[in-house]
Amino acid sequence: MAFSVGNRLIVALDTPSRADAEAFVGKLEGVPSWVKCGLELFCAEGPSIVRELTSRGLHVMLDLKLHDIPETVARSTAKVAGLGAGLLTVHASGGHAMLAAAVKAAREAGDTKVLAVTVLTSLDDNDLAQIGAIGPVAELVKKRALLAVAAGCDGIVASAHEVAMLRAVLPAGFLIVTPGVRPEGSAAGDQKRVMTPRQARAAGADLVVIGRPLRDATNPAATARAIVEELS
Ligand code: C5P
Repeated sequence: MAFSVGNRLIVALDTPSRADAEAFVGKLEGVPSWVKCGLELFCAEGPSIVRELTSRGLHVMLDLKLHDIPETVARSTAKVAGLGAGLLTVHASGGHAMLAAAVKAAREAGDTKVLAVTVLTSLDDNDLAQIGAIGPVAELVKKRALLAVAAGCDGIVASAHEVAMLRAVLPAGFLIVTPGVRPEGSAAGDQKRVMTPRQARAAGADLVVIGRPLRDATNPAATARAIVEELS
């Protein structure tokens, strides 16, 4: 499937099983062009879930956040890039050689674009100090985003809070995918720093990842339509 940002909404299928994921997708009534398969669903169902989603015409962001030695990441990327996912995540903290190895393997195996996760949104400046990383978070995010550019990645994952700062330093066309987005009027949940889809898009996000506000909505399709409207 040729890459397209579609309607810019990526729905996180944070569900424990194929049956739950299928039920959720059904409730969305074809509104989203993108879904995200994360570790939970991939660990539960394996590669076949990615093939199934792509065979339904959905673009898939495979959020495995790979992080290992370059050869292991390259070989794993080659495996999953053959599944048809449009986007695959790897950790920028794996370093230049690991990122470049993932990009090379993805290019050779198919059309999968590689996104580097800059800094997990669950980490704050204190966490960085604890693990021996030099903060503050925004500086580290910027540093890792530029590393992703240098290694040939197609884009990054960064919190909505950092999108505007990143857009100013990243080359045109470099993808920014952002979680931590909440439609107007919905509960923030454990997301501490949230933006609305409209704000994230205005700041320069190409695609936004939204999970629980859709999963827990009484009418997921209507909520998804409203988000897409905000993004357009
Ligand atoms: O919060 P929500 O359910 O919309 O999260 C959707 C996705 O965003 C999750 O699958 C997770 O990967 C990511 N997320 C994140 N940081 C958080 C919470 C969720 O990056 N604090």
